[in-house]
Amino acid sequence: MEGRQKVTAPWVLRAKSRGRKLSVVTAYDSTFSRLLDEAGVDILLVGDSLGMVVQGQSNTLGVTLDEMIYHTKAVVRGAKRAQVVADMPFMSYQVNVDQAVRSAGRLVAEGGAEAVKLEGGARVAEAVERIVGCGIPVMGHVGLLPQSVLAMGGFRVQGREQEALKVLIDDIRAIEGAGAYAVVIEGVPSDVGAQLSRAVNIPTIGIGAGPECDGQVLVCYDLLGLFRDFKPKFVKRFGELGNAVVEAAQRYVAEVQSGAFPGEEHSFAPREPAVPPVEHTGAEPLTVSPRVYGPADDLP
Ligand code: KIV
Repeated sequence: MEGRQKVTAPWVLRAKSRGRKLSVVTAYDSTFSRLLDEAGVDILLVGDSLGMVVQGQSNTLGVTLDEMIYHTKAVVRGAKRAQVVADMPFMSYQVNVDQAVRSAGRLVAEGGAEAVKLEGGARVAEAVERIVGCGIPVMGHVGLLPQSVLAMGGFRVQGREQEALKVLIDDIRAIEGAGAYAVVIEGVPSDVGAQLSRAVNIPTIGIGAGPECDGQVLVCYDLLGLFRDFKPKFVKRFGELGNAVVEAAQRYVAEVQSGAFPGEEHSFAPREPAVPPVEHTGAEPLTVSPRVYGPADDLP
């Protein structure tokens, strides 16, 4: 395959038995989608983490289905080889199974998603089964569930106690039994990630779940060092693009202020033959009404 063959659900499913580790990264727009696809990322996840890194919210609960469709469309336009998976946002599948099927259908039919992801174990198994029954591949998500942040009392590592591990094993098996083709495991100790990966035949994709998962997923803003508010333990920054953005923008500000930008090479050639400059009319210079704009003495 390696080349540029399109990544599909059956290909992902087979990756585990072939021992091929899966690389998954979130994407929210077409430019990043194109770049990550070019880099050879297998799956682009349009994560509802966009609520935090794009919209600036403190969790993912406020993200709507319409917003997910909007971002999915953009990511699909940039992806050639990678499979595009869209997250089902909070309250787009929890009400009942019919709602779940309708929401998944919209992400595929309107957004162009090639699979959907939803959070939860046994309690969402029926929804997974019905969505899969409609021909839509489903990726599960167990362990730390960001959409349950209020119930969990924060973003906390899950599965530390033996009893909790048993529940997680039941959950991941329920998701596999319902027909999911892959499952994300988030925020569990590494031995738990390994045990859960051994408990199922579908590929597991870890985020903060240790090295023994069948693949890894990172939020692209974390991976690239663009999101700098905090850095969870499981994040490795493979670049420091946040610093690069600030430095580039600082150079731009300085060159605009000094007049160095735009230079001749960034300007359209003057008209030929040269046109005489507009004469000054002699009118009084425009004075800005302080009632409208306020005083300017606070300019840096
Ligand atoms: O929304 C998201 O980005 C996710 C990943 C963290 C797995 O669900």
